Amino acid sequence: MVEVEIITGDITTLKVDAIVNAANCGLLGGGGVDGAIHAAAGKALFDECWQLVQGLPNGRGETGQAYATGAGRLPCRFVFHTPGPVYVDGHHGEAKLLAACYANSLRLAEERQCKSIAFPCISTGVYGYPKAEAATVACTTVMQFPCHAVEKVIFCCFSQGDTAIVKRAWEALQTK
Ligand code: APR
Repeated sequence: MVEVEIITGDITTLKVDAIVNAANCGLLGGGGVDGAIHAAAGKALFDECWQLVQGLPNGRGETGQAYATGAGRLPCRFVFHTPGPVYVDGHHGEAKLLAACYANSLRLAEERQCKSIAFPCISTGVYGYPKAEAATVACTTVMQFPCHAVEKVIFCCFSQGDTAIVKRAWEALQTK
């Protein structure tokens, strides 16, 4: 069984095998956690993302997909960039796309024999996904994913409030 840790912190500081970036489809940085990751990783990460997008159809990523790069100056080994869904009203496939962000990032981690991976609360900032619903999607996807190499999943929340929401979602799933 994978160990799950729910913490409040800055994901750019975590010494894990992989951190997940709540990116946009341009995959070349932005605000929020995307901005923080690129700022901490340095130009090497931007250059690697630039190379990555050259090989993608239309030079862009797809919502729900996940794209692996190195980590520049970050203390982790990999960054998995996953564009989350922009929340509309819950009836535009948002939950399925958000689940795909988590599952595809875990797939990349398994392919790279990562033992540990940290997620931010994807889509719950600029993209407006309601936090409690997003937390349930995230926790359900992690719980159901067949991890073999991955031994530890960290939900790295950026506020105590967000941490409490993810903890509630995780605990609610344990009692089901
Ligand atoms: N460490 C961990 N979590 C963070 C950090 C950080 N350093 N900085 C921000 N967060 C949290 C936010 O508080 C939020 O809970 O990451 C979560 C995701 O919020 P956003 O970064 O706004 O990402 P998202 O809602 O998925 O929107 C993505 O915003 O920043 C742009 O380039 C990004 O266009 C993309 C869009």
